[in-house]
Amino acid sequence: MPLREGAEITKVVFHPARCTTLASSYRGMHRQAIGIDIGGSSIKAAVVDLTRGALIGERRSVPSPAMSAVSEMMEAMAAALPDNAGSLTAGVTFPGVVVGGTVYTAANVAKAWIGQPLAEPAAARLKRSVVAINDADAAGLAEVQYGAARDVMGTVLVLSLGTGIGSALFVDGKLVPNTELGHLEFDGMEAETRASGRARMERKLDWSSYMSELSYVLTRTHALFWPDLIVLCGGITADHPNLVDDLQVPAPLKIGALRADAGIVGAAYASTLQSGVWIHSKNEVASK
Ligand code: BGC
Repeated sequence: MPLREGAEITKVVFHPARCTTLASSYRGMHRQAIGIDIGGSSIKAAVVDLTRGALIGERRSVPSPAMSAVSEMMEAMAAALPDNAGSLTAGVTFPGVVVGGTVYTAANVAKAWIGQPLAEPAAARLKRSVVAINDADAAGLAEVQYGAARDVMGTVLVLSLGTGIGSALFVDGKLVPNTELGHLEFDGMEAETRASGRARMERKLDWSSYMSELSYVLTRTHALFWPDLIVLCGGITADHPNLVDDLQVPAPLKIGALRADAGIVGAAYASTLQSGVWIHSKNEVASK
């Protein structure tokens, strides 16, 4: 927008303290929230101690419904709530773009989800305040706040290798939400079609072929973002904790520290964030 004549020009000063996520302000406080991680095969939920980023009590898992009917999903989420849930707020993950509590993409789940509100019906069904967040963004928040990327400044890229490839991009600890880097195309093939956990099965890749495909995807992605650190998480990393030894990538690589709990912990943590407009409903954003 062109500047009006006489308009005041405000100099934007880089202020590191303001660029940290709210994350840091919660450190040391005794807080709890519920994390609900919606995956293709199961929905997992637990109460999370946000001081330590650790689960408290039972981690309940129920089979995912067909992912097509919103009402069935709400019932499954209610069934996944652990007994110690009390009236705690909840964060819920979804394997697609989520903006303002509404789902906008559904690459690996029923397309019926596109355009569906998720946070609002979940809040009504679970009778508590709920925020919704992309699954990889949740896992990334957990790794940045409590895990492998804790206190790492600069550009951090967290990639989850599962049915798809999810991505979470951080700059000085602050999330750039809803990056969908698993859908980047290299040589006419999407990254996740080439090197996700599912791609490994479907393309019947042996370990060394899979490692070279994944190295290729990571190297090409690195060439676009030049991250200071790449953190890999997702099912494959739990089964192969020494995976990074077999990869050739020109960037520091780490395996996520929270393993299978990253989604739950990150979702719970996201429910406490008061900034980051992506988690609030559009009305809330508009009225700010
Ligand atoms: C989706 C992402 C999601 C990832 C992992 C991709 O296909 O587009 O939004 O984070 O899978 O579930």
